[in-house]
Amino acid sequence: MAILLLYPEILVAIFLCFFFLCQWRWSKTRSAITNWPVVGMLTGLLQNAYNLHEYATWVLKQNGGTFEFKGPWFTNMNFTVTSDPMNIHHMLSKNFSNYIKGQKFHENFDVLGDGIFNSESDSWGYQRKLLQSLIKHRKFELFFQEVVKGIVDKSLIPVLDHVSSFGIEVDLQDIFQRFTFDSVCLVALGFDPKCLSIEFPHVSHAKAFDQLEESVFYRHIVPESYWKLQRWLQIGSEKKFSIAGKILDQFIYKCISSRQEKLSQSRAPKTEEEKFDLLTAIGEQVEEIGGLIKSDKFLRDNAFNLMAAGRDSVSAGLTWLFWIVATHPYVEAKILGEIKEHLLDKGKLKDFNIDELSKLVYLHGAICESLRLYPPVPFEHKCSVQSDILPSGHSIRPNTTMIYSLYSMGRMESIWGQDCLDFKPERWISERGGIVHVPSFKFITFNAGPRTCLGKDITFIQMKIIASAILWNYSVQVVEGHPVSPSISVILHMKHGLKVRIRKRFV
Ligand code: HEM
Repeated sequence: MAILLLYPEILVAIFLCFFFLCQWRWSKTRSAITNWPVVGMLTGLLQNAYNLHEYATWVLKQNGGTFEFKGPWFTNMNFTVTSDPMNIHHMLSKNFSNYIKGQKFHENFDVLGDGIFNSESDSWGYQRKLLQSLIKHRKFELFFQEVVKGIVDKSLIPVLDHVSSFGIEVDLQDIFQRFTFDSVCLVALGFDPKCLSIEFPHVSHAKAFDQLEESVFYRHIVPESYWKLQRWLQIGSEKKFSIAGKILDQFIYKCISSRQEKLSQSRAPKTEEEKFDLLTAIGEQVEEIGGLIKSDKFLRDNAFNLMAAGRDSVSAGLTWLFWIVATHPYVEAKILGEIKEHLLDKGKLKDFNIDELSKLVYLHGAICESLRLYPPVPFEHKCSVQSDILPSGHSIRPNTTMIYSLYSMGRMESIWGQDCLDFKPERWISERGGIVHVPSFKFITFNAGPRTCLGKDITFIQMKIIASAILWNYSVQVVEGHPVSPSISVILHMKHGLKVRIRKRFV
């Protein structure tokens, strides 16, 4: 004992250990995730980073759907995470103006420029009005449908015929990424990069997109000062980010100038895609909507945002759909029955239209179900402007980072019932055979409230066209032993791709 009195620093150390142990035990029992001194809950987060979405779901369930994460001291990494539909409804609709994207979002996603995803208040309002008038237009839906069908006929079918005749194992995720990159470039820029072809070409701007996504995700999981220092020094992930950004900018600006050149040569559209690509339409309409200034930078930001919106979300959605259908043969059989009933003419898929596609109710249910369990955008964040109290009773201070987990919301018994982890397209079909409507603050995959996704309808069109073309013509088998798990990224890709064998159904 005397020795302790002689060395007061030992006493202080013991006291501190005791204090932190108490703190730790207290935080552990209360929140099911350890809140360590100095590093906060970061260790738990990093230890479980490989399985982040499942971990977040578990933590949220342990905490009644809402949880306050404490980051390391002095790092500005604290946030509140929720999967409670009432909180979501409150943040995204009822008290919409209090939950903005905020400074952190703008910085993490600076590559989006001033496009719709990264804008607020008036600038967002103008852009939303502009894009809504274009994307939700029937003429655009028809144009989009033709573009997708064109890629199916000219690229997808030849590629699948090729791999099936040679019995080659193929990564279906790669095929879908190539498909959606081609479709989004045609729709947004009026340019076909021809990524999807039997040569499987290396397309640097498509790869640059993957790099940007990876670096943006990295910015979310390391302290802000760390990635900013990397950016300043131009090292590591930030260096790759800058290079990829330059490659994509060059590509987009080139498309913009060749588009302008073509239009100045002839006012009359010639090819199918020239009739309605979004870049041209935006250029024409922007002057009619006040508050927006048309410039190359404005067109670049819009093009980039549309590419970000329409490429990986759809390809990720398709990948999970094909995996889940391939592992549920009775679902596949039902979809095939429905295609046979509504889309065939003399034993072959006919040139169907959007109305005929809408008769595929079971396929619609299967797509919703797979998007519920595997939402392509697994998490989102907002920032509070003023203090607030959430419906769950949690008080929110100004400038709090709010994260909502779309992935976890699809797996909550409280929302979907005890069978929430089962894949059941029937969940979406009413007794009278129609589609069951689920409010968007519960089926959150396409976001909710005034910032709901503008591409939801065209996504269903695209996914249905591709799914019916593949499922009717080919049998898809996942390669035995292929590991399937989500990647940890801003988009829910499959970590190891989706290795499959394709066999032609009719020879
Ligand atoms: C499976 C496919 C898709 C999913 C899961 C999806 C999901 C989402 C989500 C979660 C948001 C909210 C993003 C945020 O606020 O940060 C969003 C917004 C948006 N989406 Fe989609 N999306 C899909 C496809 C598309 C497509 C094909 C387009 C059109 C090319 C599109 C256009 C947009 C636009 C313009 C917004 C911004 C809305 C705003 O901020 O007002 N999306 N989408």
